[in-house]
Amino acid sequence: MARKIVITSGKGGVGKTTITARLGIKLASLGFRVVVLDMDIGLNNLDVVMGIEQQVNFDLLDVICGNCRLKQALVQNEKYPSLYVLASTHAYDDAYLNKEQIKGVVDKLAEVFDYVLLDCPAGVDEGFRRAVASAEEAIVVVTPHISSVRDADKVLSILSGCELLGKYLVINRVRGDFEATQETLGIEEIIRFLKARIIGVVPEDDSITKGETLVGSYQLERAMTLLAENLHNGTKKIFDVAKKYRGFWGALRRSIKKKV
Ligand SMILES: Nc1ncnc2c1ncn2[C@@H]1O[C@H](COP(=O)(O)OP(=O)(O)O)[C@@H](O)[C@H]1O
Ligand SMILES: [Mg+2]
Repeated sequence: MARKIVITSGKGGVGKTTITARLGIKLASLGFRVVVLDMDIGLNNLDVVMGIEQQVNFDLLDVICGNCRLKQALVQNEKYPSLYVLASTHAYDDAYLNKEQIKGVVDKLAEVFDYVLLDCPAGVDEGFRRAVASAEEAIVVVTPHISSVRDADKVLSILSGCELLGKYLVINRVRGDFEATQETLGIEEIIRFLKARIIGVVPEDDSITKGETLVGSYQLERAMTLLAENLHNGTKKIFDVAKKYRGFWGALRRSIKKKV
């Protein structure tokens, strides 16, 4: 039986889809059978981020409406054969989608996969509730910005009433140079405020936006590997984003980064 995990945040644009896609890849490369589901009805972009949008013939709505079998809607990743994507519907018509139907699809997937990752839409309304209702665990993604931390706090308190088996925190888009000089909200402060179990700190990384493949910089890959291992093994190894900005060479790096 798979672990069914929703990746959520409240606020949009903090990296839910990015983390879902890259966590899926890491878990698949560790040897697990993984399916990632786009729950963002109408604003689907998990397929785009994963570079498989041209291969999507059927989506979640097709499965629910009986236009295809579940297996037909799964798109296998070429590089990581144990990783599959189930795209969300392109048309904004979610009248047919209710919690029970989605849960039915997720439960069927859970029978054959090790991990079912649900990429949640922004907000805390119907789309959020639909995604959370199908999951047993939740990863809350937050960035080091007050508005994101506030939203994460709100989401965590809603999730407290959802009888989940686990709630975890991922801090995304952390600037190592700012963290070293404590120019922004620090990782420790965020953890202390949100009081959730931290499983990953992911650096702000240009390779995400510039890269044409899903292979990122060494730092990003290392941070994502630790995140996947923490999630799977319960370990507590957090990537030190600020390391290269500490000490003499770090100060030099910081000043160069400020100038460019
Ligand atoms: N760690 C990161 N470093 C740099 N850019 C990032 C990072 N995480 C996400 N992004 C960028 O932020 C934007 C929003 O990310 P996305 O995953 O779509 O957020 P969400 O799904 O929460 O709306 C995208 O352009 C994405 O490439
Ligand atoms: Mg998204």
